[in-house]
Amino acid sequence: MSIEIDGIHKAFGANQVLRGFSVEAREGETLVILGHSGSGKSVTIKHVVGLLQPDEGEVRVDGERVGGMDIEELFSLRRKVGFVFQFAALFDSMSVADNVAMGLRRMKEVSDEEREERVREALRVVDLVGFEDRAPSELSGGQRKRAGIARAIATRPGYLLYDEPTTGLDPITRAVVDRLINRMKDELGVTGIVITHDMESAFRVADRLAMLYEGKCRLEGTPDEFRNSEDPVVRAFIEGRPELMEEAE
Ligand SMILES: Nc1ncnc2c1ncn2[C@@H]1O[C@H](COP(=O)(O)OP(=O)(O)OP(=O)(O)O)[C@@H](O)[C@H]1O
Ligand SMILES: [Mg+2]
Repeated sequence: MSIEIDGIHKAFGANQVLRGFSVEAREGETLVILGHSGSGKSVTIKHVVGLLQPDEGEVRVDGERVGGMDIEELFSLRRKVGFVFQFAALFDSMSVADNVAMGLRRMKEVSDEEREERVREALRVVDLVGFEDRAPSELSGGQRKRAGIARAIATRPGYLLYDEPTTGLDPITRAVVDRLINRMKDELGVTGIVITHDMESAFRVADRLAMLYEGKCRLEGTPDEFRNSEDPVVRAFIEGRPELMEEAE
């Protein structure tokens, strides 16, 4: 049980974004992927659910290659892998409850009753009970993020991918979201990938981290290995001190 990102290359026209990026999220851990804006973090995790196909290399979930999947296999993959999008991506024409129920409606084995119960449970977990009938446009940014998490967990996936779950939130709400990520892991055994450039959050949730830099993995390791790294590229990033990068040239 793992997500293996194995030497993926991805270009958009002349823009070579990924150049052989490899990293693994092991069973039951939270892996944090760090990297500058535009470095290819969102592009990377879109490969995990088959929203993008690599030019070279492959992604495997539970040992199965995502690239070769047909529509049916992609459906069952997306049931296993919940995705919390960078920009919530809720449907504004639908209520919060209907947004959360969306993935469950595709699961024929889930009865109407069970679906309602799971929606209630997911909203309880993210502390949005009472917001069922609101439109997403009537929520604050933090509430929208939490609704996006509720939608991702409603199908009870074994894997969760979080793209910048705390960006733009106040410190308290960030801590709440981080705690939620940790609960998913501790209570439900979820294997997670979290993308962030918020270092405080990163160290709160990470079992291990990986830094994506110039299309490749610059460092993969434990929080202590990151804190103690002497690589100027890593130091510059985690300390927010771009001047350190000059030493890397
Ligand atoms: N569908 C696409 N078509 C063309 N270029 C794309 C596409 N998606 C992403 N890119 C480009 O790929 C690069 C990496 O984008 P990506 O969204 O992965 O960055 P990121 O690391 O997630 O950044 P941020 O921290 O700002 O979210 C950027 O230069 C972006 O413009
Ligand atoms: Mg991104």
